[in-house]
Amino acid sequence: MPPIVEKSQAAAPLGAETIRRVERVATEKAIPLFAHLDLTYRCDLRCVHCYLDEYQSQGLDTAQVLRILDQLADAGTLFVTFSGGEVFVRKDLFEILRHARRRNFFITLKTHGGRITPAIADQMAQLKVNLTMFSVYSLDPAVHDAITTRKGSLARTMRGIALLRERGLKARIAAPIMGDNFVGYRELFEHFSAQGIEVELGTYIMKTRQGFGSQSHTDLTDEQVREIYGFIQHHPVAPGVYKSLARGYKCMAGVKSLYIDPMGGVHPCPMWARPLGDLRSRDFDAIWNNDGIRSWRRLYERDDLASCPAANLTESGDIFVTSERSTKFLRVVDEFMPVRREPEPASPSSADPRPVESSPSGAKADAPCGKGCGCAG
Ligand SMILES: C[S@@+](CC[C@H](N)C(=O)[O-])C[C@H]1O[C@@H](n2cnc3c(N)ncnc32)[C@H](O)[C@@H]1O
Ligand code: SF4
Repeated sequence: MPPIVEKSQAAAPLGAETIRRVERVATEKAIPLFAHLDLTYRCDLRCVHCYLDEYQSQGLDTAQVLRILDQLADAGTLFVTFSGGEVFVRKDLFEILRHARRRNFFITLKTHGGRITPAIADQMAQLKVNLTMFSVYSLDPAVHDAITTRKGSLARTMRGIALLRERGLKARIAAPIMGDNFVGYRELFEHFSAQGIEVELGTYIMKTRQGFGSQSHTDLTDEQVREIYGFIQHHPVAPGVYKSLARGYKCMAGVKSLYIDPMGGVHPCPMWARPLGDLRSRDFDAIWNNDGIRSWRRLYERDDLASCPAANLTESGDIFVTSERSTKFLRVVDEFMPVRREPEPASPSSADPRPVESSPSGAKADAPCGKGCGCAG
């Protein structure tokens, strides 16, 4: 397949217009532009809301991961997000990152950041990791550490952020908001925004995929969701992800973005429990074009789906039964912005593309879902 942009350009900043063009072609031709790879289930924290079902499996070996990266590069993937579990528990992480750099991906890491040392930060700078997303739940150590259930975790995460910033690397904050950390979300947002660090506030906490997990967080009330979007909507530095909610949204999972679990299972997004293929026994190309993925794509053409089918499945066991929890934020957005407009030209802040996944309902334009659910976004 001819490249839609030269591979040598992928790690360099792309203009908003180029990105729009690339995304359009990827959507038309179902090119897996964005891949999210969970490298391990292992993690040294035990967050109260975590969607993982287990924390023991190491995942694929190094050679298997490198082979997958090669296959993704050949299939047209430009943006790779590595997550887990906790990526920094893998001893071969830098071998994997070096290979990803050789294949010229735009590299994003999702991490709690607490294991980053000066030496690790130096290696990340050398490899020019494009973006690191740190999970921060509160500026108050008592609140943050109660969510991660590990004392001192906020201080370690803040140190990781500082180490990257000192080396000129780009950091962004992922802040899923729950009842547990609702108090203080504004301070968190203002604190990082004032330093030029974008904050993604998530309002949807997804269920564990298999239902074996032990989530013990409190969900946001409708009123709290309303309050968060009211705040964000008028904030001068609210990132493109929120501004684009006004323009409508369309889930691109399985069309131009995908999720690969630590055992090599290919899913449209992290929420979809059953893998549609196994990279340990089949090549990526064969899975990406198999019947399972094709029938998933056809779901988007249906107009009787009122919410994300993956959320429906995990919450009710039926993809056609609307998930009340996942549509809560959409109802609130509708209250604030009842008339969805056609897409506006992308602003420079929204020109930093990441894989996104959202509800197929009301689909009008490709835009991030804003659920902040840790999905391929
Ligand atoms: C699963 S973690 C993996 C990366 C790393 N261990 C971390 O915590 O950042 C990725 C992101 O998903 C978020 N997350 C975990 N469980 C979630 C859930 N049930 N719903 C929404 N987001 C969740 C985390 O807070 C984190 O921001
Ligand atoms: S959210 Fe991240 S840090 Fe927390 S338990 Fe899950 S994988 Fe570990």
